[in-house]
Amino acid sequence: SEKEIPKEAGIDNSVAVLREGYLYGTNRAQAFQSDLFKTRLLGQEAICIRGEEAAELFYDNEKFKRAGAAPKRVLKTLFGKGGVQALDGEAHHHRKAMFMSLMSKETLEDIRAIASKQWERAAQRWQNQSKVVLYEEAQEVMCRTAFEWAGIPVEEDEVKDKAEWFRAMIEAPAAIGPAHWKGRRSRGKAESWVKELVEDVRTGKRQAAEGKTLHTMSFHRELNGEWMDAQTAAVEIINILRPIVAISIYICFTALAVHQHPQEREKLGSDEEKLQHFVQEVRRFYPFFPFVPARPIKDFTWNGYPFKKGTLVLLDLYGTNHHPKLWDNPEQFRPYRFATWNKSPFAFIPQGGGDRNVGHRCAGEWITIEIMKESLDFLVNRIDYTVPEQDLRFQFNEMPALPHSHFVMTNVRFQ
Ligand code: HEM
Repeated sequence: SEKEIPKEAGIDNSVAVLREGYLYGTNRAQAFQSDLFKTRLLGQEAICIRGEEAAELFYDNEKFKRAGAAPKRVLKTLFGKGGVQALDGEAHHHRKAMFMSLMSKETLEDIRAIASKQWERAAQRWQNQSKVVLYEEAQEVMCRTAFEWAGIPVEEDEVKDKAEWFRAMIEAPAAIGPAHWKGRRSRGKAESWVKELVEDVRTGKRQAAEGKTLHTMSFHRELNGEWMDAQTAAVEIINILRPIVAISIYICFTALAVHQHPQEREKLGSDEEKLQHFVQEVRRFYPFFPFVPARPIKDFTWNGYPFKKGTLVLLDLYGTNHHPKLWDNPEQFRPYRFATWNKSPFAFIPQGGGDRNVGHRCAGEWITIEIMKESLDFLVNRIDYTVPEQDLRFQFNEMPALPHSHFVMTNVRFQ
């Protein structure tokens, strides 16, 4: 017999989501003592799910699709229209393979080396500054890294403006008013700029290095044998550039973790494995991407609970990474937990779960980890700095969450 999914009262609970942010799912799950509950968001019924078993369900392509799942405001800012995030079936598989072809061992080493060089250049500048705001600096460093790795030429005096486009896109989905509209305008500008690059590469007006993003995506053939239209190619190239810039958020949290956990910092050295445990714990512990949306393709029951075709289903990433059944003392920052982690693809899901070749799990997770390790090593082993008095708090109802001061450093010294 069918069980009833616990249901939050109210005609629409979008306001509660804005108020509680990343903790909305966790708070309800605790109140209902349940890993799934029904609510109403953005004028429709939604089922929120969390946990390892729920993630495994969510990444079953036979049961869920992505088309029509992401809200318009997300498509118009963060994702872009026609991108891989909203594709299903063969079309998704084919497009995703193009992304994954860019993620070889060599290209990952390349991006790490580029990030290292860009950090050192930045640090040389910082020595002459009275203070450095890490978040803004990291955005610029990541923007340069992204362009160089993707094989996209950019003039020195354009970097700041372009970094600002990506920042506006990242900050827009949950924003209301001017910040939201700035995100839409920035997406428009970025898409037309990249679209022109693609067209120039295709006509031979511009050379592009083989094996790099700009070249690969300009000449990628769709299932019908045709090139992607230039607009879609631009959306997908931005699906590489924008999230690399977004790593600056994790870099800011990494600096916060180093500052607030000096005993963990002590243990690090420059041991690759320990750097890895530390950045994994940063990705688990701090909030970043709140939910991922999908819709059932057909009616089915799961553990006795009915799921109806078409209902909005949200997988709670933050709630899963802090699930008390999956993590010992989830509210403590303990990098060492990753030394004995069982590597379940559904329990630790800051960038989605499952198999990235088959499903929608983040294409850039390895890039993120490599860049975070490099950035952590840089902060801990290659520069010295003072962390002055400042407001390092972050709030769960700000998306993306960030330390309010954006992590200010003074007396930066670079050996
Ligand atoms: C998808 C998070 C960095 C490229 C995703 C998803 C999440 C995510 C939650 C959705 C998973 C799903 O739909 O099931 C993050 C976070 C990052 C990050 C927190 C940290 C900055 C990157 C980077 C790249 C990237 C560096 C590329 C270089 C993508 C792409 C997708 C994706 C292309 C769509 C995959 C698909 O739909 O099949 N990411 N990501 N991401 N990410 Fe990331």
